Amino acid sequence: RIKSIILAGGSGTRLWPLSREMYPKQFLKFGSTSLFQETVLRCLEVSDISEIFVVTNEAQKFFVIGQIKEIGYSIPAENVLIEPEGKNTLPAIFFGMKEIEKKFGKSIVGVFSSDHVLDIAAMKTISSAEKLTSDYLVTFGVVPVFPHTGYGYIKISEVCGPGYRVSDFREKPDLETAEKYIQEGCLWNSGMFLFETGLFFEEVKKHTPSVFACFENGKDINEIYAEVERISIDYGIMEKSDRVAVVKLDQKWSDLGNFEAIYDEFEKDSVGNAIHECDPLMLNSAGNLVYSKCGKIVSLIDVKDMVIVDTSDALLICPKSSSQKVKEIVTELKVRK
Ligand code: GDD
Ligand code: MG
Repeated sequence: RIKSIILAGGSGTRLWPLSREMYPKQFLKFGSTSLFQETVLRCLEVSDISEIFVVTNEAQKFFVIGQIKEIGYSIPAENVLIEPEGKNTLPAIFFGMKEIEKKFGKSIVGVFSSDHVLDIAAMKTISSAEKLTSDYLVTFGVVPVFPHTGYGYIKISEVCGPGYRVSDFREKPDLETAEKYIQEGCLWNSGMFLFETGLFFEEVKKHTPSVFACFENGKDINEIYAEVERISIDYGIMEKSDRVAVVKLDQKWSDLGNFEAIYDEFEKDSVGNAIHECDPLMLNSAGNLVYSKCGKIVSLIDVKDMVIVDTSDALLICPKSSSQKVKEIVTELKVRK
């Protein structure tokens, strides 16, 4: 069976003020289950609970354990891996791969983000890629909808088993490049991967030797993380490796990365307002995302296509199309603190 790594260490800065460092978006519940819980349920399609590893941090550990309990499972303590600090996805995945190798030996491992909306049927597509993993680092691609600059772009070449070989992988291109990639028929990188432990370690050693070396010297995790480079799997490995294959996901996939994506997921009224946790008075207002948890009367007049998120200690107002910039505010806030 496939082993699973769930990455649950990001803080989701683009959903501020809904998500906070202490309460990131994967644990938020927009319905009865959180994105994290849905991720665990999907992993259980391909792995036993003892084969699922969650890479997270001390502050989020109790959400991880508690939310898994809530859906009726108990994760072994040694499968909850605590990073001393977030160093982006490559160190997090390396940490998970090492622990899986330690516990199970050579394995095929699915790597999953904990903040995606994904049809559970996609897990069949993911396991169908197993046979590619001895020769390729496998990623999963989706047909792009617009030139999003926050995603990775995958250019495909010849057919290879259930997928294609990848001739070019480009992480977070600028708008012009993203448009060009879409015209050329590229796919979006879904941010999910399937790796065989041996090939993964080999490719990390080749393309980011400093990360490989950090983990190899028998140091403890605090020493490793104090030293290791902050780098994502996409920039560190996927862009550089020439042994990448992609399998297309036909199922519904969405990265709820910003408020525009959340808006798309929410139910809307007849004029396209997505309202959550409140009952605003509205005159000639349409296409807005309104989220207010404070019990205040919210009223909108002639407001179009805006995001309005009100929490007890912070208020955000921005055009929906500027949702990607919310993380700049969070950066600014950290400087002020
Ligand atoms: N444990 C841990 N530690 N997890 C982390 C860390 C970290 O330091 N940093 C990020 N994560 C988790 C996030 O919580 C998320 O679940 C996942 O790793 C991906 O990180 P993001 O920060 O959300 O990446 P991204 O959205 O900018 O880009 C990735 O996903 C896109 C699709 O959603 C890339 O793989 C892109 O190529 C891809 O298109
Ligand atoms: Mg993301």
